Amino acid sequence: MANVAVIGTQWGDEGKGKIVDWLSAQADIIVRFQGGHNAGHTLVVDGQVFKLSLLPSGILRTGKLAVIGNGVVLDPWALAEEIDAVSDRGVKISPENLLVAENTPLILSVHRDLDRIREANAGDARIGTTGRGIGPAYEDKVGRRAVRVADLADTITLESRLRRLLAHHNPLRQGLGADPVDPDSLMAALRDVAPRVLPFAGPAWKVLGKRFRAGDRILFEGAQGSHLDIDYGTYPYVTSSNTLAGAAATGAGLGPAAVGFVLGIVKTYTTRVGEGPFPSELHDGSGHHLATVGRERGTVTGRNRRCGWFDAVLVRQSCVTSGVNGIALTKLDVLDGMKEVKICVGYELDGEFIDDLPVASNRQARVNPVLETLEGWTESTAGARRWADLPAPAIKYIRRIEELIDCPVALLSTSPEREDVICVTNPFSSR
Ligand code: IMP
Repeated sequence: MANVAVIGTQWGDEGKGKIVDWLSAQADIIVRFQGGHNAGHTLVVDGQVFKLSLLPSGILRTGKLAVIGNGVVLDPWALAEEIDAVSDRGVKISPENLLVAENTPLILSVHRDLDRIREANAGDARIGTTGRGIGPAYEDKVGRRAVRVADLADTITLESRLRRLLAHHNPLRQGLGADPVDPDSLMAALRDVAPRVLPFAGPAWKVLGKRFRAGDRILFEGAQGSHLDIDYGTYPYVTSSNTLAGAAATGAGLGPAAVGFVLGIVKTYTTRVGEGPFPSELHDGSGHHLATVGRERGTVTGRNRRCGWFDAVLVRQSCVTSGVNGIALTKLDVLDGMKEVKICVGYELDGEFIDDLPVASNRQARVNPVLETLEGWTESTAGARRWADLPAPAIKYIRRIEELIDCPVALLSTSPEREDVICVTNPFSSR
């Protein structure tokens, strides 16, 4: 039995939440390993819509352990709020089903402030972040001045960590024209929220290691997408963590061999929130169709998502950089009713055909998509539960995607509903 890592292969919002929820029925443990509450995972369970940002999607299933791994940056107030919101809808959350790695760095108000001040001052160079403080929190982690979950348990350590952190932030804030932060009020706020987090804190690596050796099934839940990766994304228009499958090991505290199957989530078209290059972006009626039928509005920030044709170049790269074994294709039904559908198969750059996205920004800005046109379909694919229920042009479209990205479809999701999945290969029983 393989443990499964689920990652986004595009710019996020591929529909990971639904697939993770579907897979979590077979998992014992579900681990978030990077990102923070910039993620927005929408799940529909018995017609009820749940929007999760920090809590692993498996929290909605009884008898599962949901883990927030050390690779995440954790806003303790956002966690408390999400726990309250989910609990209010009848989901029981306790240390029995939620574990937070004690070495997880915290997102504090200073991070949110810095994220927003920088974006507001950046003019055309803004990244279009979610404003959640993600980037500044990761900077402080790497800068060795973060406050971590375990620090909440001891006043003396917490005070000294805060002093160190503010010795960095206050001069920076002054330079940006913001008021300095009073350490006492931040300390008070942290002491206030600590009891909401500490009951869940523990050595996640140890628990995971033990249960891994005992043969429990682990599902690693990625957030964002491969082209938002800090190394392999469209830098600097990226998030501040590694979103690739390799991050699952370090972000959970297990070795790379613990991940047996990498499932890449692929939306049948492309979307992006925020700034940055997007070669196959559409500004016409087809783009409008994708945006409206696909309800492409951000779960976290409510921003409209930019929409475009499926870009095979991007997904082909993600399949390599994450070692994707199979894909879950989502939102096929959004293309229902389109007369023709197009796929970006490569780019034209300065009169030449290229089959990968250049790294240099000035070259990225000059690429034009090379599009292949396929026949559309009028029939509805929504809710299909068998391959045989799909119209022939839809099957042809899927086969062409597989061919172009050199990776097979393992799962096909045909609606937001939990059970509307066609399973070709079950990732958990693939080896
Ligand atoms: P940050 O992660 O808030 O720093 O934002 C950096 C970039 O990543 C921005 O373009 C965001 O729109 C994008 N981003 C962050 N999280 C998500 C997500 O969950 N889905 C899609 N885009 C995201």
